[in-house]
Amino acid sequence: MAEDVFENAGIAAEFIRSQTSVEPRIAVVLGSGLGSFAEAVENGVAIPYAAIPHFSASTVEGHSGRLLLGRVAGVPVAVMQGRVHGYEGYSPLQVTFPVRVLGSLGVKTIVFTNASGGVRLDLKPGQLVLLSDHINLTGLNPLSGPNDSRLGPRFLDVSEAYSKRLRGVAKTTAEGQGFELAEGVYLCVSGPTFETPAEIRAFRILGADLVGMSTVHEVIAARHMGLQVLGISCVTNMAAGILDRPLSHHEVLEAGARVQAQMTRFLTALLPRIDR
Ligand code: HPA
Repeated sequence: MAEDVFENAGIAAEFIRSQTSVEPRIAVVLGSGLGSFAEAVENGVAIPYAAIPHFSASTVEGHSGRLLLGRVAGVPVAVMQGRVHGYEGYSPLQVTFPVRVLGSLGVKTIVFTNASGGVRLDLKPGQLVLLSDHINLTGLNPLSGPNDSRLGPRFLDVSEAYSKRLRGVAKTTAEGQGFELAEGVYLCVSGPTFETPAEIRAFRILGADLVGMSTVHEVIAARHMGLQVLGISCVTNMAAGILDRPLSHHEVLEAGARVQAQMTRFLTALLPRIDR
């Protein structure tokens, strides 16, 4: 018998409710090296993932592994400081479990952030890019297996995975802060190897602007539950083969650290506008 994700998500959500009176409508998932937005959460309760029933803990440097519930600019939010990835050995079901819990908790909108390699040549390390769409090249889908209609439909329409309306709000917010938010297609690989230069050339032909190892399965699970999604990527490096030097996780974390303040300012302005 398959695991009852719906039941388990309900149990985890109930545990979270027992720890706080905050009722978040928006959640933010913080990607590699982007965890410092958590400091903007006021009157927050921090719950280690290890304490939440059925949650998995991240094993990756740059991912703290705790859920914060509190307020940002007056808006009740849930902030996931760190996520788990398929390359850590977690199944798509485990990777997407927190999203199911957030949905069960009553969250209506999730802002996913991540680190990515720039495939499109005009992108620059340190640049924030709005996800306009994605290409799932992991060969896996979190909705594989029997469908639980309490979570969502068997065949999911993903023709607007990333809300057009929210993308508009994000762009206007960025303009107000004096920077332009580019849009791009995020291609998800399973990792953990970075790509070869030949793969990056192939991905460019496929229509990818960014490449990364997260987010896409989580977005599918969120859309399955009818949640609105926004995706914001920090280009931490040019993808393999563009510059004549090797890639490293160190470089990813360093670039993340450089944009953290901008990301925090941006998200703090964005959340109240989304909440309206
Ligand atoms: N490739 C895949 N994932 C990444 C990269 C990259 O170049 N940079 C940050 N995450």
